[in-house]
Amino acid sequence: MLPVPRTTAHIARMPGSFANLTIVAHPLIQHKLTILRQRSTSTKDFKQLVNEIAMLMTYEVTRDLPTETVEVDTPLEQTMGRRVAGKKLALVPILRAGLGMVEGIAQLIPSARVGHIGLYRDHETLRPVSYYFKVPAAESDRDFFLLDPMLATGGSAVAAIQTLKDAGAGRIRFLCLVAAPEGVQALLDAHPDVPIFTAALDRQLNEKGYILPGLGDAGDRLFGTR
Ligand code: PRP
Ligand code: URA
Repeated sequence: MLPVPRTTAHIARMPGSFANLTIVAHPLIQHKLTILRQRSTSTKDFKQLVNEIAMLMTYEVTRDLPTETVEVDTPLEQTMGRRVAGKKLALVPILRAGLGMVEGIAQLIPSARVGHIGLYRDHETLRPVSYYFKVPAAESDRDFFLLDPMLATGGSAVAAIQTLKDAGAGRIRFLCLVAAPEGVQALLDAHPDVPIFTAALDRQLNEKGYILPGLGDAGDRLFGTR
């Protein structure tokens, strides 16, 4: 029997032009993503899985958040501890599908503020159409996590990041579950300062701008529409 390859590398960074891309390839995330892709997965399970994967990714996405030293009184004595520094971070889902990722992350970061960016993709042009924008004040020491399960052409993410920057945000990370190479490239070209975290980098887009193999329309599967 062939030996089973073992690795502790749950994280992969793409070489070259995808230097800003982190694939969070933890076995639990990959397992859940496989169920998520499955056509027969119910709306209820889809919603739960999106939240769970987002929650699991949070550990890696927050790895380099700045911390500061604080005093803490234990029941026995005073000591020093560490806590996350800066303004309360902001979770910003791109409507609709990004909403599915908020709760999972907020369970780990309950103090997070939540903003909303309303964008949909025009079915003909595949260009993003903006319809809503409301985010927490963009102070320089606030981290923004922009959330959307799908990075396809990249049009929506590029536009959402631009609106965040226009509002004054300086520290932005983009979290998705499935990315297409075309979208990653577009995002890196437009916003090379924004780190991208994904659970999977898929093969390509089809002629309608859907990710292959992908998981279909994330918004429809999440909310049971169509
Ligand atoms: C989907 C998805 C992203 C966008 C990705 O949203 O949730 O926001 O498409 O595609 P892009 O990278 O080519 O811009 P959609 O436009 O279907 O809106 P919805 O979530 O309201 O259904
Ligand atoms: N939006 C989705 O929901 N799925 C895709 O595959 C592409 C864009």
